[in-house]
Amino acid sequence: MTIAIEPLHPLFGAEIKGVDIAAGLDAATFAVIRGAFEEHSVLLFRGQKVDDAIQIAFSERFGPLEKTVAANPARGTVFARQSNIDMATGALIPKDDRRMKYQAGNYLWHSDSSFKQVPSLCSILSTREVPPEGGNTEFASTRAAYDLLPDELKAELEGLVVEHSLVYSRSLTGFEMTEQEKAELPTARQILVRTNPVNGRKGLMIGAHAARIVDWPEEKGRALLDELLALTTRPEACYSHAWRDGDLIVWDNRCCLHRATPYDSTRYRRLMQRTTVAGDGPAV
Ligand SMILES: [Fe+2]
Repeated sequence: MTIAIEPLHPLFGAEIKGVDIAAGLDAATFAVIRGAFEEHSVLLFRGQKVDDAIQIAFSERFGPLEKTVAANPARGTVFARQSNIDMATGALIPKDDRRMKYQAGNYLWHSDSSFKQVPSLCSILSTREVPPEGGNTEFASTRAAYDLLPDELKAELEGLVVEHSLVYSRSLTGFEMTEQEKAELPTARQILVRTNPVNGRKGLMIGAHAARIVDWPEEKGRALLDELLALTTRPEACYSHAWRDGDLIVWDNRCCLHRATPYDSTRYRRLMQRTTVAGDGPAV
């Protein structure tokens, strides 16, 4: 197979062609993919035939997998399910069901698992059932945003630490956690400016889970986090992916934000399976 790497967006992202994930990847092929991941941050593979076992095997090439936390419908497994289908009955889950309210948090720009002590390296999302319209996933590069910052601001950001919290981010969409869920979800501290160890490029650990800047007054910290988020996610800097059957996307949680967009969950079935690869240690 000959691998081709084609840009998805002027700022970041690439489609990888000529790869059959289900057939298994030799070391040389995976090395090309891993290199493209470090370089382009978001990798799209089309026309894949992926089931849960194949997705786990592919994901583990990037590193050990996380287990999904309290409150996600797939809690305790290696999958974070993005779906309106009740897995026990096959029926559509009503809009006001707690499982759907939990997923409303995905409409906010975020980096998966930035609320964990060890933030994630990357996420891998693949299609099982795709609605005929709606349900895009949008991506933005905090690396591209960082490059635009004036030097004085870059200097000011260096060394800052941000507290990330799933309890905080879910509160933004009105999702109420039980006391037990809250107890299982302590806040985590992340370095704001994160450097890629392979190419030295810097990105920002921001997004919905980013609650406050440590040792800064609340309002001043909020204003800076909001300003950085607005810069990162300005429309022309975003890539919006319209899913087709057989798509699989890998994204770098160290330097990318993403968000879900709505679809008619009362009419269409949607089942996406996400695996999340753990990082190699605390970022602070
Ligand atoms: Fe996500």
